[in-house]
Amino acid sequence: MQIQVNEKIMVSKTLFSEQQIKDRIKELAQKINQNFGSQEPLVVLIVLNGAFIFAADLVRYLVMPTEIETICLKSYEGTNSSGVVKLLTPLSENLEGKNILIVEDIVETGRSIDFLLSQLKAKKAKKVEVCALLNKPESHEIPMQIDYSGFDIGKNFVIGYGLDLDGRYRNLPYIAELMS
Ligand code: IMP
Ligand code: MG
Repeated sequence: MQIQVNEKIMVSKTLFSEQQIKDRIKELAQKINQNFGSQEPLVVLIVLNGAFIFAADLVRYLVMPTEIETICLKSYEGTNSSGVVKLLTPLSENLEGKNILIVEDIVETGRSIDFLLSQLKAKKAKKVEVCALLNKPESHEIPMQIDYSGFDIGKNFVIGYGLDLDGRYRNLPYIAELMS
């Protein structure tokens, strides 16, 4: 597929198919089910907008009682991280003593997750873990632990399955990478 980025036309190539994504999500859910168990409630904190499709698929494989919360973060303009993370919606007031699973689409520099974890500290949760469908280890600028990571990928920009380029392409059922 050809994608227009500013004045440039770029080519995208499928990186993970629908089936590959589905299989990996089942494995991630299995690990989450094992680690948190089936009894205690889990707050699933979905980072919008990018993680909405991933989270919708993931939560259907979770076995514990879940509470779904969302948070809207913004850090991107086009294909470049702006470096400044903004919280566009407030965090829930009701997180004290709870198990929380942050669900992200992708970790690049690590700034978004680091920012969210620091905001969550004040909420006195019992345990906070991070689940990201994609991870760009070579792009991390802040050392961090991702407890459940779907796929490690290189530095290329990716779109689809929730991930956007200036708001578009989130509806692609697969993940594609932009080739430079
Ligand atoms: P970080 O704060 O640099 O880790 O960036 C995380 C956020 O940037 C993610 O939640 C995405 O919204 C966005 N992002 C990073 N890399 C990509 C990409 O390749 N495609 C689409 N969005 C991306
Ligand atoms: Mg995101």
